[in-house]
Amino acid sequence: MKIGLVGSGGREHAIAKTLMKIPNRDSLFVYGSHHNPGIERVAKSSKVGDFRDVERIGDFFSSNGVELVVIGPEVPLIAGASDHLRSNGMKVIGPTRAQAQLEGSKIFMRDLMKRRVKKGTLAWREVRDVASARDFIAEVGQVAVKPVGLTGGKGVWVMGVHFDTVDAALEKVEYLIQTDGILLLEERLIGEEFSRMAFVSNNTISPMPVAQDFKYAYDGDQGGMTGGMGSYTMADGSMPFLNKDDLEQADAILQETVTAIEEETGEDYRGFLYGQFMATADGVRVIEYNVRLGDPEAINVMALLNMDTAILFEEIAEGILKKEEINFFHQASICKYLVPSAYPASSKEQAVIEINEKEIEEAGFSVIYASVAQKDIGLETLGSRAVALIGLGENVFELSDKMEEMLKQVEPPTIRHRKDIGDERVIRAKIQKMKELRGMSS
Ligand code: AMP
Ligand code: GLY
Repeated sequence: MKIGLVGSGGREHAIAKTLMKIPNRDSLFVYGSHHNPGIERVAKSSKVGDFRDVERIGDFFSSNGVELVVIGPEVPLIAGASDHLRSNGMKVIGPTRAQAQLEGSKIFMRDLMKRRVKKGTLAWREVRDVASARDFIAEVGQVAVKPVGLTGGKGVWVMGVHFDTVDAALEKVEYLIQTDGILLLEERLIGEEFSRMAFVSNNTISPMPVAQDFKYAYDGDQGGMTGGMGSYTMADGSMPFLNKDDLEQADAILQETVTAIEEETGEDYRGFLYGQFMATADGVRVIEYNVRLGDPEAINVMALLNMDTAILFEEIAEGILKKEEINFFHQASICKYLVPSAYPASSKEQAVIEINEKEIEEAGFSVIYASVAQKDIGLETLGSRAVALIGLGENVFELSDKMEEMLKQVEPPTIRHRKDIGDERVIRAKIQKMKELRGMSS
């Protein structure tokens, strides 16, 4: 089959790898924002262009006779790439433009949840003036201040985390009123976050193993928010700080959201849905929805997928997927991004790095390429998350130690990573935190 892929980050390299794991059968055509050296290895042809230019995306795939397209990032989905490609006769993994509003507009999402899903919600207010913000803060206490549109995971300010006083909250509010005219205030939730992603097809969700993303730049959740420094999954597919009830609640919320958005748009949802949840003392709440796979979480789950991915994706796109067919390896996984030393502060830092892929593979890990380009002088970082390492194993703690040992040998001096992703003490502290929170509520 001729398969198209939109996107050129780590998530898309992970997708490309699993799609192309059966030798000499399918061919891959990639439309990305840069030439990713890892994807180039498995692709037949690639093109660089704007993700909003859906006509150009369509022309590239049509002229190559592509039959099935996987859309990685949110920007082309929100721009209507799925609708355009489907109208040109292609099968597509990715929701329609109307459905992508779940991620594109936080107000649309909160409103849909309030009207149709009713579970997993929290107190929120659409704000256009400071007085209304002041009233809301007086009502709920601590808040999260959010732009209503896409933020790349970096534009949210949480009281008690990023600032402490009501005045500081109102300063952020004023800033967003000036820049956007509108913003979203939410009550601040306390708990542990987890990423539950699902394939959606046939009006049904087929969940993937739960992942936890480490969003802060430095160990111990210090520094600024990033797109995600790495993520782990556990062998049982859940998180050690979640109980069975939490996971059932999260899945029920995802399913009801799919049903609601399908009914409201009159279109089947075919693609990925990613619920960013918070387990709190009184149940699971939705922090946000993404209409795509998470990055880095996709790197974990695509490595764990024990199926013929091209066939699986074709079934998703045709709307005929059967939940019972889904099969993942029952192993833990850890993914860590290596990033330029100033990331996320500077997005223009370029350095040449050497990645000894052979040595990494001999140690039992794989390399995923992201924001890097292959130049004559070597592999050049482009400023954002450069390269990820992914490993699978029986025990997440042992895997974490093994990965750190290996990184001591192979990490180039100009880049860095978080050492505490999947670390035993960190995970045990999360379990303890949730125990204490739940104890307080009873
Ligand atoms: P978002 O872009 O909406 O996913 O927010 C980015 C991050 O901000 C989340 O992953 C959380 O860590 C934090 N956050 C967002 N909303 C809330 C909230 N209502 N309460 C507490 N933390 C939040
Ligand atoms: N890892 C967070 C995201 O993909 O949005």
